[in-house]
Amino acid sequence: MTMDIAATEPRAGFAPIRTARPRRYLMTAPTFFTVEYVINPWMDASSPVDTARAVTQWETLRQTYLALGHSVEVIDPIPGLPDMVYAANGGTVVNGRAAVARFAHAERAGEAVAYADWMRRNGYEPFETRHVNEGQGDFLTVGDVLLAGYGFRTDRRAHDEVAAHVGLPVASLQLVDPRFYHLDTALAVLDDATVAYYPPAFSEESRAALARMFPGAIQVASADAYVLGLNVVSDGLNVVLPAAATGFAEELTRAGFRPVGVDLSELLKGGGSVKCCTLEVFS
Ligand code: ARG
Repeated sequence: MTMDIAATEPRAGFAPIRTARPRRYLMTAPTFFTVEYVINPWMDASSPVDTARAVTQWETLRQTYLALGHSVEVIDPIPGLPDMVYAANGGTVVNGRAAVARFAHAERAGEAVAYADWMRRNGYEPFETRHVNEGQGDFLTVGDVLLAGYGFRTDRRAHDEVAAHVGLPVASLQLVDPRFYHLDTALAVLDDATVAYYPPAFSEESRAALARMFPGAIQVASADAYVLGLNVVSDGLNVVLPAAATGFAEELTRAGFRPVGVDLSELLKGGGSVKCCTLEVFS
């Protein structure tokens, strides 16, 4: 019998089988969320924020994770720290180790204390970097590699500090567009080997590095990137993403993932969405 070569090659339209793994998330309610200072281009201190609506939207996100079978722990919000809802920035917890954030802006410095407390109460010694690092806003884990962003917030020198502490290799990626000021606004980790990203957010060199590391990556269009469509949380199958990122949702479906859209429009006013509100604890 002769073998049909074409049948052994991946066919167009053939999506790989994806599998979910239960995850552990840490979140902080937007009880005290407002936009009262401006530290990124999404923020406009003169446009009103509906805090009650932000809380309702955030609660829907939390319930979405629970319904997908994930565990969600919460940290008590602190009055006077309006950005504390963006829990991803609190630090990086991976490989049994934790590094706490050192924020770029004084307005957010107090948040680090609360995340360090959580780490201590949960058996992690919070490592403090000498250089600015904004946690999982800029440090994303893909399998057993760290991708780390720099250019706006996290200092490139913190990449090596965090990587050495958690014991993982790191690939540094340069962000060049102020709208995509954290790595998690420009790149989404979908499973241990798959990412999606918005190429114009990266320097030419970093774009080339991404193309080498992830030849099969999904490249998203501006319309999706500009609603923070890449700011997602994936369990390997279900991808919780901003509902407005409809083009990306279709691409995810084609690639075998299950998009789960949520509306976090109030939290977008602070420059964050799904991933920003979620710190994943990788054990
Ligand atoms: N207002 C916050 C800031 O500019 C938003 C942080 C969003 N978090 C994130 N992981 N991208 O710091």
